[in-house]
Parts: sequence; structure tokens; C-alpha cells
Amino acid sequence: AEDGYDLWLRYQELPAEWRSANAKSLRSLVAPQNPSPTLAAARDELSRGLRGLLGEEVRLNEKAGRGALLIGTPASSPLIAGLDLPLGDLGNEGYVIRSVEIGGRAATAIAANSDIGVLYGTFHFLRLLQTRQPLVDLAIESRPSVQLRLLNHWDNLDGSVERGYAGQSLWDWWKLPDYRDPRYTDYARANASLGINGTVLNNVNTNANSLTPGYIAKTAALAEVFRPYGIRVYLSARFSAPVEIGSLETADPRDPAVRDWWKAKVDEIYKAIPDFGGFLVKANSEGQPGPQDYGRSHAEGANMLAEALRPHGGAVMWRAFVYSDVNPEDRAKQAYSEFQPLDGQFADNVLLQVKNGPIDFQPREPFHPLFGAMPSTPLMMEFQITKEYLGFATHLVYVGPLYEEVLDADTCQPSLLVGAAAGRDRPQIEANGRSYNNEESSCGNGATVARVIDGSLHNYSRTGVAGVANIGRDRNWSGSIFNQANWYVFGRLAWNPDLGAQEIAEEWLKMTFTADKQFVDAAAEMMMRSREAAVDYMTPLGLAHLMGTDHHYGPAPWVSELPQPEWNPVYYHRADKNGIGFDRTAEGSDAVAQYAPPVAGRFGSRAKIPEEYLLWFHHLPWDYTTSSGRILWEELVHRYDRGVGEVEAMQATWAELKPFVDPERFAETDSFLRIQQREARWWRDASIAYFREVSGCKLPAGVRPPE
Ligand code: GCU
Repeated sequence: AEDGYDLWLRYQELPAEWRSANAKSLRSLVAPQNPSPTLAAARDELSRGLRGLLGEEVRLNEKAGRGALLIGTPASSPLIAGLDLPLGDLGNEGYVIRSVEIGGRAATAIAANSDIGVLYGTFHFLRLLQTRQPLVDLAIESRPSVQLRLLNHWDNLDGSVERGYAGQSLWDWWKLPDYRDPRYTDYARANASLGINGTVLNNVNTNANSLTPGYIAKTAALAEVFRPYGIRVYLSARFSAPVEIGSLETADPRDPAVRDWWKAKVDEIYKAIPDFGGFLVKANSEGQPGPQDYGRSHAEGANMLAEALRPHGGAVMWRAFVYSDVNPEDRAKQAYSEFQPLDGQFADNVLLQVKNGPIDFQPREPFHPLFGAMPSTPLMMEFQITKEYLGFATHLVYVGPLYEEVLDADTCQPSLLVGAAAGRDRPQIEANGRSYNNEESSCGNGATVARVIDGSLHNYSRTGVAGVANIGRDRNWSGSIFNQANWYVFGRLAWNPDLGAQEIAEEWLKMTFTADKQFVDAAAEMMMRSREAAVDYMTPLGLAHLMGTDHHYGPAPWVSELPQPEWNPVYYHRADKNGIGFDRTAEGSDAVAQYAPPVAGRFGSRAKIPEEYLLWFHHLPWDYTTSSGRILWEELVHRYDRGVGEVEAMQATWAELKPFVDPERFAETDSFLRIQQREARWWRDASIAYFREVSGCKLPAGVRPPE
């Protein structure tokens, strides 16, 4: 059944013309003898994929005949060792896919320095087939730009998933460690196909029980399933665990007994899981315990865990998402205020994991001001794959453009003089013992968020990207077929942040549905416009956080009575009869000052700010003239309505694509788009009705009053 279980690894039979044109490259498969589990996984994936794609079994051979497909490393395959392949720069995870000659016979090699590189190359090779590329003159080299490419599961030990919309947790804790659901292997295959190399199994709002012996054994069982696929397991750690599951009275990071407790705990974990990845920690945020409970800094807390993990090669991912109960400042400023001054104080196996924007995974936020501002602390990106603020399971919102927008953002921060910038003649200053260029404007030099994340801007020795997973026990894994694209685009961009959201969408469509151009063009366009549509019908012009409090589903801009100011959407839009928007300029909260001066200048200026961030940074009168010539009120109404129109256009596109899609997946998307259309109208009508009442403005001519 086309229930979405196979994700993008469907391996449907390719058209006859493609098969006959490329058959000569796929006569036999030559894999290493006595393969490691990883090489066996690569061989089996190829057999499975080729069987499906070619509609026939491909012979497994020991010798390389004409048209052989060879896989292996120089160590595992004398044939690969005998080829002069450019493996030097590929590191531990990279690979080559090459058209080669062996004894005068044309063949194809998938080779790497390590077994996992071979597996990654195998998935790439299968992708070439799935997207119908010709298999001639292949000279592909690829290696990841980022070291840690991780999913973060917000899965609770009771099986529920925080902000999960795809059913219960995949981890069946009750049956683990003895029963290993075959689905765990399919999960690992899907991740390996993207190059995802780690997974944090449990929620950041965690229970200390995840560190008890029983759960360590369960985690070890999952680690064993994932290991051949290059996926390490990590756990979220609760800072107060020494008190809750140890017998200590404090979790103070300066207390030697606490430090010893963590060392012993970490030793215990590594005994069971020798390649355990490390800890993810949410501390002193939204009620979670942390070092500040004892008057210690985030750095002291992180470094204590780092000390325990270091001898084993593990890392700490300390989250910068801090959100206090009492926050006298603008909420958007808290993370920068708390963490930027700690730059240089973290141990070398700590990474600071920063959400893409300063508040919380909104449909649109400016990039987080910490990016570029901590040259001595490796910053990891945290994206949200699950659609907490984007319509949960049903709304079709492809987040590729959101990720791309953030990665491409120019931080305009001065960069270390490495790489491309190094040759240029620039004045320099010394800071933190390093040289920076000191140009008035450091914009346009490629100091993008992507260059922060891949470590090249500041020469980070550790790099990482995390995505809050959208995976659960639903047959289709992600709550909808189109949500699978968000898992996919996350993984592809984690491997290479310079890929485009559009090309990834096309690739995913070809693998998931069909490579027919007519289908791919129309469906990709629909996907590429979907995120802007959601911005328009939910929170246009830089508005944010107007969703219903707690559940975050549907509009509630009127909520104002909750005890903590930031729980109320009115805190974020600040609308009254005179105007709307959050003043974050120097006259307001001055959050703009957390950005590099050129960015602060741009965001702080009404004239220069890109309009999509307008009300994030400015409080403006309703009759303020926008770039369209419409006054602000009318522009707001226009955008809400445009969002609804875009969803209706998506419905029309999908209806036209019916001939290309099987009935099951067609119907799911069709009915989900109906839900989205109804809810886009709900968003528009409720928001306009509310802002009209607050502002006293009249509906512009030609706009129908809300039903
Ligand atoms: C958001 C989300 C919470 C989550 C938190 C976090 O606020 O709504 O459910 O725990 O982010 O990232 O820690």
C-alpha cells in the first residue's frame, strides 16, 4: 500500500528507456568479502534498491566484469585499493562515486576511506537512479560540511512526544531492550540516506530516569541497531539527576561529590555504549533545573558534564534557549544577554545549541543574534522540523525556504581571517587572542549563518546542526506525506548547508512520487511558496507568537490575561488604536543592538528594514505607508488574504496533479489541504476582526467582512 512507510526510499521500477540506457553500468555488484555490518548494510541496500528500480535482481559477483558496480574502502576491497581514487580529502565520512576502468572494462566505484562513507555513497548512488540521472562519466565527491548532524527527539519516557504530531514515540521503552522493532532499522536507513549521524532519544524537558541503569540498557539496544548506519545515540540529561536518582543533596557543579557522580554515571553509560555521543542539556529555562540554581554560570554547568565526557570522546550540547519565569527584558534578548558574555569560557567539548531565531521557531524570525557573536564557542544550529507553530501535521508547509533563509543570512560579523577572506588586504584587530578584520562594514564578505555553523567563519573545531524531529509511530512517520520532506530537507542541509531548498524539494518529489517533470515543477513550486503562505495567513510583516497559548494551534492574538507577560500574544504584537508592532530599536527594547552594527542599523531603520521583519523590530502607526503604497493596516489585511489565496492555489495545483499520484497519498494531501484552507481563513478572519476592533480601522474597499 502507498501509505508512506517507505519514505523517499521507495525504489519503484524506473521507466524502460532509462533502464535500457543505463543497463550496461549495472551488470553486477561487487562488494567486499566478509563485510563489516556497515558494508553489509550498503550491499543489502544496493541489492534492495536495484531490485526495485531495475525490476530484476542484480548479480552479486566476486570479480569485476564489464559494467560492474564496486563498493568498498581500500582496506576492505583490493579492487578499490587498486584504483587510483581521490580519497585524500574526503575525511571519515566522505565518498567518491566514479566511472572507472578495471582491466580495460568500464565499471563504477563507490569508495570511501571508511565503511560509513561507503554507505553514504551508496545512498547517493541510489538517489542518482531514483532521480533518473545518467550513469556515465561519474565523478562525484562529497563530504559533509558539518560534523554533528543530529535529530533531537522530544520523546518522553511515557511514550508521548512533546510537540509531536505523528503519533506516539517510536521508542517502545516497555519492550526494549529485548525486543528491537524492525522499524528501528528502517529509521536508521532513512537517516543514513541523508547523512544524519546522531540522535538524541529523549525530550529536552527530561526526566532523570533516562539515566538509570534500566534506560541505559534500553538506549544501548537502540545504539546497537543504529551503529552500522553511522548513528550515535545521545541523551538529554537532567541537571538535577544527582539529587533525583543519586543520593546527593545538591547538583552544584562545584561540589566534588556532584562531579564524581557525573563521572561515574558517564563511565557506566560508556560501558554499555562505547560510542555514546554525549548529552543535550536544557538548563535554567522554562522551569528546568540548572547551574544558576546554585549561583553558577551556564559555562560551569556545561564544563562539569564536559569533564566527565571528555575521556570517552563525548560532547555536551548546551542549549541557548533560555526562557525565565521572570524576564524584565524583552524575551528576544535573553539568550544573547546570558550567553554572549560567556564566550571563551566553555570547555572544548561543549557546543552551544542555538535556535534559528531569538524567540521560538516562529513562522518567520530574524536570525539569532548569537550567530557570529561567539567566535570562541562552537555554535550549533537548532532547527525545528516538527511544525509546532506551523499547523501541526496537516498544513502543507515546506520548511526548506525557512532553513535556507536563516543559513544565508549575513551576520555582517567580522570574521577570522581564514579561508576566502584571508588573502585580502584588511586592517586587523586583536580580540580574544585572535585576529579579526576591522572593516566598518563586514557585510557581503560571506559571514553568513551557514559559515558560522560549518565552523569556517571562526575556525570552530566542532560543528553541528540539530533538528527537532517530526517522527512518530504513524505509518507515514511524520504525520503527513509532505512532512517527510521536512525531515529530508533538514538532513540534506545538515550535510551541505549550501544546497538550495528548491533543488532538495525537487529531489524529494522525484524520489517520493514521480520524476515526471510536469509533476515535479508544479509540486515544487507549491512547496516553495508554502512557507510564505503560512507566514501570510498566520503572522505577516514580522508579527510573531500570536498562536493559542500552550497548544500553539490557531489564532489567539487577543489573549492578554495570563500571569506571565510573554504567555500573552498581546505581549508580542502590542497593538492598540495608535499602532502595532514590538519596538526593538534603541527607543524600545534595543534588541537590535545585539546584532553587528550594520545589521543593527538596517533592522533599526524603518526605511531600510526588509518588510518581512517590520513589526518584529518596529512599532508603527496604522497609517504608516508600506512599500506597496498601502497603509500598514491595509497591507496587513492584504497579506492575510494573500495567504488564504495561496492555500487555495495549492489546492488547485494538487487537484491538477491527481493523475500523477496514487489514490491513497492523493487523498491524504487533498483532505489535509482542505483543513489548511479552512484554518487559513480562520487565521485571517480572526486576526483581521481582532486588529480591526483594536485599531478602529475600517476594512479596505473590496474586502469581504469575515464570516
Ligand atoms: C518551545 C516549546 C516547548 C519546548 C521549548 C524548548 O517553547 O513550546 O515545548 O520545550 O520550546 O525548546 O525547550
